[in-house]
Amino acid sequence: MNALSHLLRKQIAMGFWPGFIMGMYPPQFSYEPIEVNLEQVWADTQAINLYYHVPFCQWKCSFCTFFAIVSNSDHEYGKYISRLNEQFAYYKNLFNGPLRIKSVCFGGGTPNVIPVLLYESVFEELARGNVVLDEELEPSMEVSPEIITEDYIRSLPSMGVKRLSLGVQSLKSDLRESVNRDDNLNIGDIVNSIRRHNLNINIDLINGLIGQNAENFMQTLEEIIKFSPETISIYLLSGRNSSLFKSREYLMTTKERYDLFDIYYDYLLNHGYRCESHVKFVKLDNKSTHQQKIYEYQGVETLGIGCGAKSYNSHVHYGLPWYQKRSDAEKLINAYMNQMDFQRMPWHGIYMTLDENKRRHMVYSFFLGELDIRGYQLRFGSSVFDDFGQELAALQANDLIDTLSEDVIVLNQKGRKYTDLVGGLFWSQAMHETFDAVRQKKLNQTLSSKNSASPVDTGARSSTTP
Ligand SMILES: C[S@@+](CC[C@H](N)C(=O)[O-])C[C@H]1O[C@@H](n2cnc3c(N)ncnc32)[C@H](O)[C@@H]1O
Ligand code: SF4
Repeated sequence: MNALSHLLRKQIAMGFWPGFIMGMYPPQFSYEPIEVNLEQVWADTQAINLYYHVPFCQWKCSFCTFFAIVSNSDHEYGKYISRLNEQFAYYKNLFNGPLRIKSVCFGGGTPNVIPVLLYESVFEELARGNVVLDEELEPSMEVSPEIITEDYIRSLPSMGVKRLSLGVQSLKSDLRESVNRDDNLNIGDIVNSIRRHNLNINIDLINGLIGQNAENFMQTLEEIIKFSPETISIYLLSGRNSSLFKSREYLMTTKERYDLFDIYYDYLLNHGYRCESHVKFVKLDNKSTHQQKIYEYQGVETLGIGCGAKSYNSHVHYGLPWYQKRSDAEKLINAYMNQMDFQRMPWHGIYMTLDENKRRHMVYSFFLGELDIRGYQLRFGSSVFDDFGQELAALQANDLIDTLSEDVIVLNQKGRKYTDLVGGLFWSQAMHETFDAVRQKKLNQTLSSKNSASPVDTGARSSTTP
């Protein structure tokens, strides 16, 4: 057994969870101020995922580490939408050939705080010019179900939206209140209304909320599957902020959360779902084709539009800097809205080396539970066993993988459960060192600002949802 196998065995025995580190690689805490020659970087790209970030919410949930502020200003919304359109129009001029759009996602924050009709101009800009929309395109929008209305839902299909992702988190009133969520949620009415307008549905839940346990989590899940959502996304609670710190005695341990994974994994597989990734379960007869993460992991580049969006290009990953305090977020939103020149934005990012691209490929293959051995050889011209023999041996020694055929290695249920540990194995040494340093710094900041309600991000999540 090699040193990595021992480390992995120890982490599993301890119930160690490093955070949702599979969300993006390299993680954004490794980003530094960089210059990006946008024209050069995008010129030859032919197909993209498009991610629009909306940084506004009607309230701020105590657990949330996403780039979002509370805002109710129609003026600000209108200005922000114009800016999104300007930014996409700017990028369109950089591409040499016709641009195929493979997927579109509006994420946040809460895109549905913005009046629905303002999105008309976004879809017009999307289709204008030298652009080809993929036949399978299923534009998706993240929404807070408490504030969505029948009128809002009715307007979406004619614009082009085909899927809604509902941030439910839990159906238990006391749990919802404890994280600052409204308790006026009538999920049955909302689902019926969405179905009347022929939209597909994803439902987001969280494993590990304050006051949650296996029993009340499963009660929510049993309610949710009655609505047959095309997909169910279940995130392990990540990040730390002062309110979670204060109530940490009510938080499940990581071991309990891992145990809960086994319970809902078995339950969902017995109720007509398959596991696409450790955070996403897909209905077997699913008609939904929203595959932004899958395309991204297969190598389609992602163009991020908006102040919290990241762009993932094979040469460089970049975006605007992450924020620590609400006032920083406001400054960034203002900079985004008022700084006219997109080339001169204060970009933060990382240039991708061959080694980091190989590591990214491994992380994302295992995120989706499957490594194509020949595909790796074709893409990188080297054998995956030469490049990552020790890591694969460690997975085998810990019974996390099965060999499906001589070309395909898959994560088994145990592997799925420990996906974030599996991903960590493929991080470069430099990334681990930066991660440890950043975690320590954030922890110190959290401890010294215990009375502040500002979110403190671990940097471990992507701004897009799977
Ligand atoms: C950008 S949020 C958008 C959802 C929407 N605004 C809503 O009503 O919640 C996407 C999802 O990320 C998940 N999420 C947010 N913060 C999280 C955290 N700290 N840990 C785990 N999941 C989190 C939630 O499930 C949420 O629905
Ligand atoms: S979970 Fe959704 S509604 Fe809550 S603060 Fe985060 S983005 Fe806003």
